[in-house]
Amino acid sequence: MRSRPATGLPEIDAGLEARLADGLAAVDARLREVVDHDDPFIAEAGGYLVNAGGKRFRPLLTLLCAEAAGDADDRVVEAAVGVELTHLASLYHDDVMDDAELRRGVASANVRYGNSTAILVGDLLFGTASRVIAELGAEAVRIQAETFVRLCAGQIRDERGPAEGQDPVASYLQVLADKTGALIATAARYGALLGGGDEAAVATLTDFGERLGVVFQLADDLLDVASESGDSGKTPGTDLREGKATLPVLYARSSQDPEDARLRELLAGPVAAEDVPEALALLREHPAMAQARQRTVELAQEARGLLASLPPGPAVDALDRLVEGVALRSA
Ligand code: IPE
Ligand code: IPE
Ligand code: MG
Ligand code: MG
Ligand code: MG
Repeated sequence: MRSRPATGLPEIDAGLEARLADGLAAVDARLREVVDHDDPFIAEAGGYLVNAGGKRFRPLLTLLCAEAAGDADDRVVEAAVGVELTHLASLYHDDVMDDAELRRGVASANVRYGNSTAILVGDLLFGTASRVIAELGAEAVRIQAETFVRLCAGQIRDERGPAEGQDPVASYLQVLADKTGALIATAARYGALLGGGDEAAVATLTDFGERLGVVFQLADDLLDVASESGDSGKTPGTDLREGKATLPVLYARSSQDPEDARLRELLAGPVAAEDVPEALALLREHPAMAQARQRTVELAQEARGLLASLPPGPAVDALDRLVEGVALRSA
């Protein structure tokens, strides 16, 4: 089992850091409590990815947005737990869809328990998330429900790819907003609501969360190409093997350079397992990576710009650092 992650935010206010660390510890303790089950196998499979680690990025965002909006009570921990459980449910399902082998540095749940169990545990965790969020009231449950509908719609469109005649880059960015941005927006929104933010602050932080989520997924997609095995706790090249047209792939495909013929051929569809190392090596060296990173940094700048309308303070400064860290994690 890995130790609980620190906030990982450089140079933030010491008091804020201590409150966030306490909040994250409370989230972790509560997560372990709520995934427990009378049946020992269900308890094990349900706690499997919670115990494997993970960055707890969404809970951190909920806690930080509560700080940015004002002053939160203990319910913010419940909201953060509900968001992380919703995320976990999506991970169990995503690894079945993507035929993934590794998650959070351990064998993925589909490999460990089989597809049927992985799907059912994902459903069970979604139910657990709703149960936790129900303590916060009907409006919070409605938000979670709408969020999950958007996340699933995004995942469905991610599988199917763009429709005929749609601009591939624009539809890719919309998929990211739905499959990843929606839940990260909700993480921020719950924090803003429970922190007592006014309507404008809640709207700004929700919009900020969604844009941050898109940046987060762009960086994740870049890491699928750029990371060395093990760094991310996942298997690099999974998106290529699955034929996912992520931003660097879209840019590389549109290259006119005759020297890119082999790369374009490899990236025309799902890359066979034995060709993945070659495709990764060629793509890593290709200007498409720098181009995709540049777009990621631009979108991060847009997200940061939204923070200007919030009352300044240590929490807003920390949110600014957070975006920067997310955008640069694939650099
Ligand atoms: C993985 O999310 C799924 C994406 C939306 C990219 P994270 O990168 O937050 O995964 P954990 O929670 O740290 O394992
Ligand atoms: C998944 O995106 C986003 C979710 C909604 C779970 P990915 O398929 O890129 O996530 P990873 O890389 O497996 O974590
Ligand atoms: Mg995946
Ligand atoms: Mg996926
Ligand atoms: Mg990924």
